[in-house]
Amino acid sequence: MEFSIKNTGPEKMRVDCLIVGIYEDQTLTALADTVNTLSQSAVSAALKSGDCDGKLGSHMLMRDVSGIHANRVLVLGLGKQASLNAKGLRTAVRAAIKALPKGVTSIATDMPALVTNDDLQANVLALVDVSLDATYQFDAAKEKKAERHPLKHIVLMLAKADEAAAEAGLKQGLALGKGVAYAKDLGNLPPNICTPTYLGKQAEKLAKAYDFKTEVLDERDIEKLNMGSFLGVTRGSDEPPRFIVMQHLKGKKSQKPIVLVGKGITFDTGGISLKPGADMDEMKYDMCGAASVMGVFKALGELDLPLNVIGLIPTCENMPSGRATKPGDVLTSMSGLTIEVLNTDAEGRLILCDALTYAERFEPSAVIDIATLTGACVIALGAHPSGLFANNDTLAKALLEAGEQAHDRAWQMPLWEEYHSQLESNFADLANIGGRAAGSITAACFLSRFAKKFDWAHLDIAGTAWKSGKEKGGTGRPVPLLLTYLINQVA
Ligand code: BES
Ligand code: MN
Ligand code: ZN
Repeated sequence: MEFSIKNTGPEKMRVDCLIVGIYEDQTLTALADTVNTLSQSAVSAALKSGDCDGKLGSHMLMRDVSGIHANRVLVLGLGKQASLNAKGLRTAVRAAIKALPKGVTSIATDMPALVTNDDLQANVLALVDVSLDATYQFDAAKEKKAERHPLKHIVLMLAKADEAAAEAGLKQGLALGKGVAYAKDLGNLPPNICTPTYLGKQAEKLAKAYDFKTEVLDERDIEKLNMGSFLGVTRGSDEPPRFIVMQHLKGKKSQKPIVLVGKGITFDTGGISLKPGADMDEMKYDMCGAASVMGVFKALGELDLPLNVIGLIPTCENMPSGRATKPGDVLTSMSGLTIEVLNTDAEGRLILCDALTYAERFEPSAVIDIATLTGACVIALGAHPSGLFANNDTLAKALLEAGEQAHDRAWQMPLWEEYHSQLESNFADLANIGGRAAGSITAACFLSRFAKKFDWAHLDIAGTAWKSGKEKGGTGRPVPLLLTYLINQVA
């Protein structure tokens, strides 16, 4: 997709379709009004037909409107003028793109300029983000490739004075879009292709493309680090594990890094505590935490963001076999804490805890882990926010705020001392599960035991990283939240 910013009038705009907004009370936006005048009131005449009531996302297509170059005009409902905000803009853009007839390869719109209670840069970013999301396609594994989305070019009709802000929004939106698409692709790939080895190779490719440092540690290296908890998960699999370390060091030398840790289970069968068969294919998405970290690194590279950010990805499969870890086994983590594995399906925390211990060596300013950690989080929050846990309120606030800004929200859950007793074990320092009650909280409590030496936050993305059903596919979340948080650290 190509985007450009032009301040050409609608009569001369050379695109397949002009998108003009109207409000719920049938008043026309300035652009709609200009087109109406040029066409000798064709727009207001068509509105009389009742085909577009102006409600947010409603639309009406007009062809061969006189007085303008484009041979189609999509009249788009924007709802009530006074309440049009960034969220409404996103809804309207998505509706417009869905409504375009197949023949439309280029559109022009002034939509980012219509939300006046938000800054233009953010509105342009939002338009780019939504357009790329709405036209994303994944067909890497289909013999017959689906037809590419026909829309190729979006022209933003903005005033000259707005150009600098619009350019900045465009740049960030494109970088974000690339990161999100990359995270979706990695999630959508089948688990026989997207293995730990594959993720390691992808990290090396990224590092080469964007000139940052990457190390991909293999099983022997992981053994040397004494990551006994991580090794306990990979034991049952024939696929070799990897521990990926990515280092985007473009900030001041004196600046302590932010560490992102992504859960990279490329397939979660549950292990000996085998999962039920229904929908088990979706456990290929159990590496979406890792995918989001890699997506963020792509976007950081695109923006050359002046920050120090480290990405850590423990990645393996969780499989049952004669060698697999069994319920009752005790593992010794890299930190020295011993863990009684009461359920081999609670494997995410077992690979993450060693990555958190590894993070200590970077003396980080903050550590954020991202994981499809618990089904309980989906029960608690559904598919709208990610679950957020943190041992530091300033960090939690910054992440919540970034999520609001990026329209990729999180919701904070408690990490109270009272929950910790659920993880007590008779045979080790702690157990890897805490019973049925408060499953996502006890999972976070488990991780917090390995995050005592730094400010830390945990995002449980089990409900947000992918969609099930007819629209099954990765969402690329929470790349928007994370990238916005990082951009905010520069400002
Ligand atoms: N990857 C799953 C969590 C998950 C399940 C995410 C379903 C999205 C949808 C995780 O490894 C897991 O299996 N967690 C268990 C923990 C339990 C055994 C304490 C769960 O949520 O059932
Ligand atoms: Mn599991
Ligand atoms: Zn899992």
